Amino acid sequence: MKKVVAIFGSPRADGNSDILLNHAIQGAAASGAEVQKIVIRNLQIAPCNSCGGCFEKGECVIHDDMQQVYSHFVDTDGIIVASPIYFMGVSAQLKALIDRCQAFWARKYILHLPVRKGARIANGFLIATAARSAGEELFTGAVKTIKAFFHVVDTKYVGDILCCGLEEKGMVYTKHDLLQKAFDAGKQLLTW
Ligand SMILES: Cc1cc2nc3c(=O)[nH]c(=O)nc-3n(C[C@H](O)[C@H](O)[C@H](O)COP(=O)(O)O)c2cc1C
Repeated sequence: MKKVVAIFGSPRADGNSDILLNHAIQGAAASGAEVQKIVIRNLQIAPCNSCGGCFEKGECVIHDDMQQVYSHFVDTDGIIVASPIYFMGVSAQLKALIDRCQAFWARKYILHLPVRKGARIANGFLIATAARSAGEELFTGAVKTIKAFFHVVDTKYVGDILCCGLEEKGMVYTKHDLLQKAFDAGKQLLTW
């Protein structure tokens, strides 16, 4: 069975990015994939402290909930990330998880080891929500961060859904086209 990891990046439960991600998860499940949800707000993930401990074995020396996240990343076919836009970037919770992937950077670029067995490449998709109605470069920071993250975890950036004008919690329920797009993205994730 193919595997997909779904990363909930918002600290706001049942918020706009959570709702869209849940639709993408339903789509991925409808395609036959086994989906693992990672709800960052429920985990203890310390920020990277740049100790260099991962340079030796490609493994992070901080023993917190990130260890279970690593085990999912090394055995997945797809990654879907959802985040609100906070000050033009991703949420702090998601950024902490991404920075801890420096251990994969060390594995790849210092130890020359692949992220997954057989150097398997996963497919990656981004869902981001923001309050502003539009605006130049509203999603640029988040997209660049996620592209860099996907690159380091041997994952191809296959697409995104970038939604503006979503301020209040649950507002996205009125946007049926976005909910359908998220479902379809989850369903197609492993075929791109
Ligand atoms: C700390 C913080 C920073 C934010 N920064 C931005 C921003 O830079 N641009 C923007 O359009 N919306 C910003 N927002 C609004 C959220 O991106 C928006 O409400 C989003 O839909 C929330 O997603 P969620 O419901 O999944 O948490 C910010 C909200 C918070 C709490």
